[in-house]
Amino acid sequence: MSGPKELALNTEYPAPNEDELAHKLVQLLRGTVEQRFLLGMTYRGVNTKSHAAVRANLIVDPDLPERFRVGLFKTPRTYPAWIRFSSTLPTPLPDNDRDLRGMGIKLMDVDGVTLLDGDSHTHDLTFITPDTFLTSTPQDFLAFAEAGGLNAKWSILDLSRILIFTLTHPGFLINLLKSQKTIGSLIEVPWYSSTPYLFGDRAVKYSLRPWLLPTTPIPHRPPNNYLREGLVRQLQEAEAGFDFRIQFQLDPYKQPIEDALVPWREQDSPWHKIATVVLPKQEINSPEQYMFGENLSMNPWRCYPEHRPLGGVNRVRRIIYYEGSKFRHQRNAVPVVEPKP
Ligand code: HEM
Repeated sequence: MSGPKELALNTEYPAPNEDELAHKLVQLLRGTVEQRFLLGMTYRGVNTKSHAAVRANLIVDPDLPERFRVGLFKTPRTYPAWIRFSSTLPTPLPDNDRDLRGMGIKLMDVDGVTLLDGDSHTHDLTFITPDTFLTSTPQDFLAFAEAGGLNAKWSILDLSRILIFTLTHPGFLINLLKSQKTIGSLIEVPWYSSTPYLFGDRAVKYSLRPWLLPTTPIPHRPPNNYLREGLVRQLQEAEAGFDFRIQFQLDPYKQPIEDALVPWREQDSPWHKIATVVLPKQEINSPEQYMFGENLSMNPWRCYPEHRPLGGVNRVRRIIYYEGSKFRHQRNAVPVVEPKP
């Protein structure tokens, strides 16, 4: 990645024309959505397959040291929340196909103004299963999308363009192969913000460490939706949860803000637990609840200014998610509504 030679801590280095780039991605994603969902329901452009919508609580740790008392975590309290679990590929596939998984957490009952829409009283947090994103920059993501990477079916021309893209971006290919996995259970794997966020005046990444060890096997002859079926069963039997952790940027070269392909290694910057995400024992299997999750809109910019998304990949997400959600809600004739507890 080209950029300034000297990097400072907690500092962004926006590239020129990022707004134009974001609008190109909006158009491109809209085109693929129109191609894929000609009739019937319109789903998300990526993170398309919903596994489930689940009720949760984010509980801020009591007695947090002063340096962690920022924004959402200022005072010990509990935020009611919805979690939507998804698989990332634009085409919904059987759960046994290798993929990255996504988790969107929508906190409710949040006081004060968020960056995206001032009066929603909601605050969104997004996670994926790998600790890095697929491309270093939004420029690379656009190049991948322009090569046909998000198309429903890859033509010979798409394939040759994608091949050229991967040969010229070996980090993308290596990361894609590493991060596409099959998993036994959605609540037995760690989750990562993968991109950085502000935490007051410092840069951090978030992660969720599961309480449960990865003991659930992938079923023999796996049903298409075994991840959903397993989650339904696990939450009928017991509550589950995650430790909510943050990791500070300590070195702007080892933990860059503008390169989303570089993992922030734990040995260079330790994780600190500051809250707990609890998924109470519950029934999640109704079609109504599934549709409710389908109609949710997450946006990493729906947040307090103290938790502003950082880095190029995060900057372009603001408009992309906003327009993506507006478009699918319009096509589905469903209003965009932020839920209340
Ligand atoms: C340039 C980079 C990216 C692009 C173009 C992009 C695009 C999108 C789009 C279009 C959606 C659907 C929005 C909607 O219709 O409501 C989405 C959802 C999502 N993205 Fe990204 N994304 C990017 C980076 C990331 C990163 C770095 C993460 C890491 C956490 C992430 C995690 C998610 C998750 C979890 C969802 C599903 C949210 C939900 O449940 O509604 N994405 N993304």
